[in-house]
Amino acid sequence: MRILVTGGAGFIGSHYVRSALAGDYAELADADVVVLDKLTYAGNQANLAPVADSPRLRFVEGDICDGPTVDALMAQVDQVVHFAAESHVDRSIVGPGDFVVTNVVGTQTLLDAALRHEVERFVLVSTDEVYGSIEQGSWPEDHPLEPNSPYSASKASGDLLARAYHRTHGLPVVITRCSNNYGPYQFPEKVIPLFVTNLLDGLPVPLYGEGANVRDWLHVDDHCRGIELVRAGGRAGEVYNIGGGTELTNRQLTKLLLEACGAGWDRVEYVADRLGHDLRYSVDITKISTELGYAPKTPFDQGLADTVAWYRANRDWWEPLKHGSS
Ligand SMILES: NC(=O)c1ccc[n+]([C@@H]2O[C@H](COP(=O)([O-])OP(=O)(O)OC[C@H]3O[C@@H](n4cnc5c(N)ncnc54)[C@H](O)[C@@H]3O)[C@@H](O)[C@H]2O)c1
Repeated sequence: MRILVTGGAGFIGSHYVRSALAGDYAELADADVVVLDKLTYAGNQANLAPVADSPRLRFVEGDICDGPTVDALMAQVDQVVHFAAESHVDRSIVGPGDFVVTNVVGTQTLLDAALRHEVERFVLVSTDEVYGSIEQGSWPEDHPLEPNSPYSASKASGDLLARAYHRTHGLPVVITRCSNNYGPYQFPEKVIPLFVTNLLDGLPVPLYGEGANVRDWLHVDDHCRGIELVRAGGRAGEVYNIGGGTELTNRQLTKLLLEACGAGWDRVEYVADRLGHDLRYSVDITKISTELGYAPKTPFDQGLADTVAWYRANRDWWEPLKHGSS
């Protein structure tokens, strides 16, 4: 089997590719993987260094909005796992244009080519942020989409386009909507690696508002196993939530990160809250659990300790990104 992985040089996509090529996913044990990635500020070929010598990996630097490139690659593959996106909410607030281009037009370009070349599977990696914000309880997959940021609105648009290609054309699309991920190789603008790398450098950490916002933290390895279960066994046209990690307020998360890095609250700088900041996300994972046997495996305390240890040990990876990021 040949599989096209878009955004495979980013945080989550590269974890999926490394796992697939390391033999962690039985059904992809012999699969060839083609990565299509534009190498934006968030994309980094160093994320694929552990598998760079694999004869089963081909890396293509290119844009998912580039029709001819996408068409040529789609002709060579059987399945698609689509991770590529502009992914940082704060950036979408100040510059939403790139989010609409990549997350909407790029997704539509891929769907069109997938249809032309009759791919047998198209996995769209969406996000729980498409549901909006929920004070109590958890969203099932049929909850209305009420995205609140330009990021989540652009992801919801791509998500709905994928659904439409299934309904209109019968394209075998499956959609995943996951909660917040953490783990190694996450770009140091997202809260966990930002805080850890700042603390390791003796710098303050910026906490939004009162730190009351609640997120469900899932290790990237659990997310990717969930995606692989959906790719291999999900029903075409269906949406599967992925989550079931650990719910924490940003204040609770900050406390754990300060402890893990041996720092105190004097390092916390309270900053004005993010515009339109969603209070809480929470997905109901009954569907993926009962249909596909999904369950998260990484305990949060272990996953967080391993992640902090990884950033301590891999300054060479994050220092250039941090100093070069705008
Ligand atoms: N990080 C999370 O917590 C989380 C949670 C749920 C869903 N998701 C979704 O998972 C996917 C991956 O997220 P991530 O955190 O790894 O993001 P990331 O920002 O780390 O990586 C995105 C990758 O896509 C590439 N890319 C961006 N625009 C491109 C384009 N036009 N053409 C080709 N490649 C392009 C980048 O170079 C980068 O390698 C995204 O679709 C995101 O919406 C993320």
